[in-house]
Amino acid sequence: MPYSRKKVAVLVSGSGSNLQALIDACAAPDFPAAIVLVISNKAEAYGLTRAKNAGIPTCLIPHAEFTTREAFDDAIHQALVEHDIDMVCLAGFMRLLTPGFVAKWHGRMLNIHPSLLPAFKGLRTHREALKAGVAEHGCTVHLVTPELDAGPVLMQAKVPVLPGDTEATLAARVLEQEHILYPQALRVLASMPHV
Ligand code: GRF
Repeated sequence: MPYSRKKVAVLVSGSGSNLQALIDACAAPDFPAAIVLVISNKAEAYGLTRAKNAGIPTCLIPHAEFTTREAFDDAIHQALVEHDIDMVCLAGFMRLLTPGFVAKWHGRMLNIHPSLLPAFKGLRTHREALKAGVAEHGCTVHLVTPELDAGPVLMQAKVPVLPGDTEATLAARVLEQEHILYPQALRVLASMPHV
């Protein structure tokens, strides 16, 4: 179909289960976005396979081949421009992005983070949540700003922390919610006129 839908690029580094949730959501006829590009910084990322299985063009941009973060981000930006991208979704993309790159996608770049931000920014969120003894944990979709995991929150989903939870059981409970939340948030942002 011609692209009256917003053209989305998804950036991944790993398994890409959130990418898969977005791909599945985009199959709905009324979904306001289409994933037209998947970029990975890692050749072995299973997210690339998911994209290929769905017939979505992929682009491998290995960060190790660049001497600076700026040069790596420039390469990503170039790929996004070449594909006429409207919006970017970070989905398990494990590189920090430079302020210059983030500014170019201001208001048009989403991230999913496995905690109820502002609690537990950064890595190992499930371990930190267990250590802190919180009763509730969850996930957040937020707009990306230069400061890590600190952009405006769009949506959150909560899960209970249950007796006997391990990092793995808690992560699985949160991930299930991520797969519901991310498509909902993308639908909202893609429907906004400024994007
Ligand atoms: C998810 O928990 C996401 O929130 C975090 O990294 C994990 C990526 O999982 N940023 P996947 O690659 O989408 O399966």
